[in-house]
Amino acid sequence: MREVIARVLENAPITEDVFSLTFCCEEEIPVRAGQFAMIGVSGFPLRRPIAICKAEGERITVCYRLKGEGTKRMSRELKPGENLSVLLPLGNGFYAAEEERRIALVGGGAGVFPLISALRQYADKKQVFAYMGFKNKENLCMEHEIYRASGGLIATDDGSFGFHGSAVAAFESEADKIKPEVVFSCGPLPMMRALAEYTKRKNIKTFVSLEERMGCGLGACLVCICEKTNGEHARVCKDGPVFDAREIFG
Ligand SMILES: Cc1cc2nc3c(=O)[nH]c(=O)nc-3n(C[C@H](O)[C@H](O)[C@H](O)COP(=O)(O)OP(=O)(O)OC[C@H]3O[C@@H](n4cnc5c(N)ncnc54)[C@H](O)[C@@H]3O)c2cc1C
Ligand code: FES
Repeated sequence: MREVIARVLENAPITEDVFSLTFCCEEEIPVRAGQFAMIGVSGFPLRRPIAICKAEGERITVCYRLKGEGTKRMSRELKPGENLSVLLPLGNGFYAAEEERRIALVGGGAGVFPLISALRQYADKKQVFAYMGFKNKENLCMEHEIYRASGGLIATDDGSFGFHGSAVAAFESEADKIKPEVVFSCGPLPMMRALAEYTKRKNIKTFVSLEERMGCGLGACLVCICEKTNGEHARVCKDGPVFDAREIFG
């Protein structure tokens, strides 16, 4: 983990409520898929945790949905050339074993962004199938990245683009055909719970990336504690954000 003063290269909307922010660090920072950054926002003591979407040498891209005051301020104030204080890379990230050749990615909403980094990391080495869900066609983004996948489906809740239904339903419609050995997921908790129930029945190893409010992002403040099914507690920032789905959903 490093604290860097990065320079903003670009910060622009990619849909009506999602911004893509690219910044340049002083040096190349090795990043694993699923790791995140804590981004400083002027006027707020707490940094905002955002998944790293792309790491290209010294250039890092994150995509963030406008939610509350912090992300809205990021969208207004981070202009090209501005400096930005960032902690990165944080958390454990997604991991596929050497012998796991077929990976399925199942993501919804802002959960698509950490999965893009998994797609970029594994697309050349393994067969990666992407099932990415959006509210509607207007909210669709990162198609050019999603199309790196060997297969899969883009899903919209209202059927205005691609598969009509959730990312989980899209995945279930093809799971028997693609036979994934491991599934990586990120998105709303009910979505990941539904996925975990399905993959448990099918005996498919599944990893989920969790979102919790964070203070330090470094494992020290215990703001981000979650309870696992065995009663033990885990720090989402340090022990996660990626967990075996059975640890979280049973
Ligand atoms: C590991 C991780 C990766 C994430 N990756 C992304 C991403 O790639 N793209 C994206 O759009 N969002 C992502 N999020 C969610 C993002 O952190 C929140 O949307 C953001 O912090 C909201 O800040 P705000 O000031 O706009 O909202 P407010 O609601 O005003 O925030 C108030 C406080 O609550 C925290 N908070 C609010 N919502 C969340 C949330 N869902 N998760 C964690 N903390 C929250 C804020 O950080 C802040 O400290 C991620 C969260 C985590 C934990
Ligand atoms: S955010 Fe401080 S321990 Fe996780």
